[in-house]
Amino acid sequence: MHIVLLSSLIAAAAISMATAASGTQGAAALPLSHHHYLVEIRQTPHASSSSVNVTVPSTVEDGIQTECKTCPYKLCTNVAAYEYGHTTNLTCWTEGDKIVDTTTWFKTTDDCYVTEWDLVEGNYTEVLSYCGSVEQTYTTGPSKTVYNTECNIIPEFVESEEDHTKMYQPEVDLTLTCFTNEGEAVLGNTVWYKTLSNCYVPEAEIEFVDATLDDCGPIPFMEAKMREPDPEASGVAQPVPLVASSSAFGGASTSTSPSTTTTSTTAPGPLLARKDTDRAGSSKRWLYITQIGDDFADCLSHPDSSSSKVKQYPFGGYVIVQCAGYSENEADNDQIYLYTEDFCWINDTLTDPQLIDDEERSEFYPNCNLFVDTEV
Ligand SMILES: *[C@@H]1O[C@H](CO)[C@@H](O)[C@H](O)[C@H]1NC(C)=O
Ligand SMILES: *[C@@H]1O[C@H](CO)[C@@H](O)[C@H](O)[C@H]1NC(C)=O
Ligand SMILES: *[C@@H]1O[C@H](CO)[C@@H](O)[C@H](O)[C@H]1NC(C)=O
Ligand SMILES: *[C@@H]1O[C@H](CO)[C@@H](O)[C@H](O)[C@H]1NC(C)=O
Repeated sequence: MHIVLLSSLIAAAAISMATAASGTQGAAALPLSHHHYLVEIRQTPHASSSSVNVTVPSTVEDGIQTECKTCPYKLCTNVAAYEYGHTTNLTCWTEGDKIVDTTTWFKTTDDCYVTEWDLVEGNYTEVLSYCGSVEQTYTTGPSKTVYNTECNIIPEFVESEEDHTKMYQPEVDLTLTCFTNEGEAVLGNTVWYKTLSNCYVPEAEIEFVDATLDDCGPIPFMEAKMREPDPEASGVAQPVPLVASSSAFGGASTSTSPSTTTTSTTAPGPLLARKDTDRAGSSKRWLYITQIGDDFADCLSHPDSSSSKVKQYPFGGYVIVQCAGYSENEADNDQIYLYTEDFCWINDTLTDPQLIDDEERSEFYPNCNLFVDTEV
């Protein structure tokens, strides 16, 4: 069906293949080709009637993790998170949100729905009965971004540009649909909310949420790549992604162009290492605290030494930084400026440690020009 060309997933895929292989004895799925299994029907006589309940075992594709949802739509909350190679029994099929190229979803014996795209291919719809149409239901509540706020495919600081579903500017009206307490910490707060764009924003970066929302449920590790069309179909190999563009402050001479595809001169360390640092809470950057290391630091209206002073931070003062950028004034020689919680800019050289001194920050700080979205 589809192949995921992700070096970081190879180990996990190998494990799931081993699991699948060891689970083959007595199992119903017969490997036919790389990604195609024949389906064997299981019929369970139903005690109180002459009807039979047909279920079909199915397996989550290698390199894929999927959500099993309360209804067959992206914004429905999750009942279960299925990992690579997870086997589940399907009970019926229905129609829902289109995922890549299919609107078919299957109900599993966990009483929730998975998209056909994430499963190993099979003739399930021919074998199973129709579930009936299933309504989309989810809770909603309003909020608004306070700071530059990423909206990510999972409630974590992801490195890959495609996994930033949205990059909201401040003051963007949001409609939230559910919350999770298990996201990555932002200044110690691990609550994230899902927006109507099917991505998660940190609570620490948005206005107070005065609404009763559903828990989003268990959230698997997901990447946009898992839902890219099959490269086989187009006959073109999928390019291996370069280093995340958000690592724009690691290299010496990085372009100041507003393009979000700014390349970095650093090695692809962060991407490969992300599994190890995952949820370690050590490295990340958005709303990062730093300190003034000079006598004082003027906070300017623009990333430009000739712009007006908005306020002044004293020596030793703590400053919370949203993102960073290069000076807009050529005379400043690409000085890095930090955009603070007070919506003004300070010379990075006046902070301690400086952005460029701190390896982790250099790897992970976002460029302010990545925040382009003004609508949910
Ligand atoms: C589905 O595939 C299995 C295995 O090839 C086959 O036995 C079965 O007849 C198929 N079912 C239908 C309805 O095509
Ligand atoms: C079998 O289907 C009937 C309805 O057709 C349902 O009431 C029953 O709970 C099902 N049994 C199982 C084990 O799912
Ligand atoms: C699927 O159904 C079969 C037969 O009822 C059962 O043996 C198996 O444990 C079920 N698998 C899962 C993952 O529930
Ligand atoms: C930033 O601060 C350093 C240290 O005081 C200074 O040398 C540099 O000129 C400043 N850059 C700008 C653009 O003001």
